[in-house]
Amino acid sequence: MSGQRFLVTGGAGFIGSNFVHHLVARTDATVTVLDKFTYAGNAASLDGLPADRVTTVRGDICDTALVDALVRDADVVVHYAAESHNDNSLRDPAPFVATNLGGTFALLEAVRRHDRRYHHISTDEVYGDLALDDPARFTERTPYRPSSPYSSTKAGSDLLVRAWVRSFGVRATISNCSNNYGPRQHVEKFIPRQITNVLCGERPRLYGDGRNVRDWIHADDHSSAVLRIIEAGRIGETYLIGADGERDNRSVLEMILTTMGESVDAYDRVPDRAGHDLRYAIDGSKLTRELGWRPEHGDFARGLRATIDWYRENERWWRPQKAATEAQYRERELQP
Ligand code: NAD
Ligand code: DAU
Repeated sequence: MSGQRFLVTGGAGFIGSNFVHHLVARTDATVTVLDKFTYAGNAASLDGLPADRVTTVRGDICDTALVDALVRDADVVVHYAAESHNDNSLRDPAPFVATNLGGTFALLEAVRRHDRRYHHISTDEVYGDLALDDPARFTERTPYRPSSPYSSTKAGSDLLVRAWVRSFGVRATISNCSNNYGPRQHVEKFIPRQITNVLCGERPRLYGDGRNVRDWIHADDHSSAVLRIIEAGRIGETYLIGADGERDNRSVLEMILTTMGESVDAYDRVPDRAGHDLRYAIDGSKLTRELGWRPEHGDFARGLRATIDWYRENERWWRPQKAATEAQYRERELQP
């Protein structure tokens, strides 16, 4: 791995920027970030990184000429860029199809032409959902059954990768991770939305009855798992990444409220998300067994406290996004 040149797409987003910080801290790699800086990209998420090791290119992963040139000059391509929010995909699926499918296609064609190592970042949502009382968890063999425009375009992108491995011998691995939390997550997402609502004096919002379960993992653990797969994963394989973090939404919201010194019921229930997946749960034993990876941030209460502190201390990072995000949510709440 020494001296490798990484191309990280979506490196100005929540998880991509976490990976860039991780890579710079743990390896001697040089990194080129390719990011379109949509509403979800934030240059401040890359602050503090050394200029002689990290270069940022503003551009679209659907731009085949740009992608070709950047892939040619890299040894390893790690593909995070995506339209990532389910609620947005219900309002307007078009950018999800363009970026998640078209952008992945452009990258795969370039790594095929230049024979580069490729790692594809995906989600547990490709497997659909589980019943609340089902003891089962997702494994690498679970059939694909995505529910939303977001998850179906991610599922399609995974299938493109699998086909390019089998048909063209592309040297790729795929990881499907559960719900991430931590610093620098956009305020549209559940945990930062509720934290910043409290900080703004607004009541948090819970969809439906709040019994839906998500399997939480700290973004730092996601990054260490991805690096481990790039270092030692078997080409053509899929690895699920999780940290045994199943919690229902109501419990997470109540933890946020009590940690922030608010009354446990100081929130509003709002209409449920259309097609809302009930429960996600990852069996990550393949990654542990084959590659010896383990999460280091398994204490959710501690990680949540640190995340709350981060949003308290970094209002300058999230404040510019807050009003527009809440305006969109207000429209959603008013829909019949
Ligand atoms: P995010 O929305 O915070 O960041 C996405 C980044 O991609 C942004 O910087 C955006 O500007 C960039 N981008 C979007 N369209 C682009 C385009 N056409 N060209 C170039 N850049 C573009 O997303 P995130 O939560 O950090 O998710 C990153 C990846 O991880 C996604 O592939 C997502 O599916 C996957 N994932 C996310 C989670 C989670 O809990 N957030 C869990 C598992 C997998
Ligand atoms: O499972 C991995 C996925 O996790 C990733 O692939 C996605 O990119 C990421 O956005 C996330 O998807 P979710 O839809 O699970 O995350 P979100 O933060 O939007 O919502 C988490 C849960 O909280 C979900 O059950 C909906 C609920 N929710 C969300 C918001 C924004 C609320 O109850 N209130 C809210 O205001």
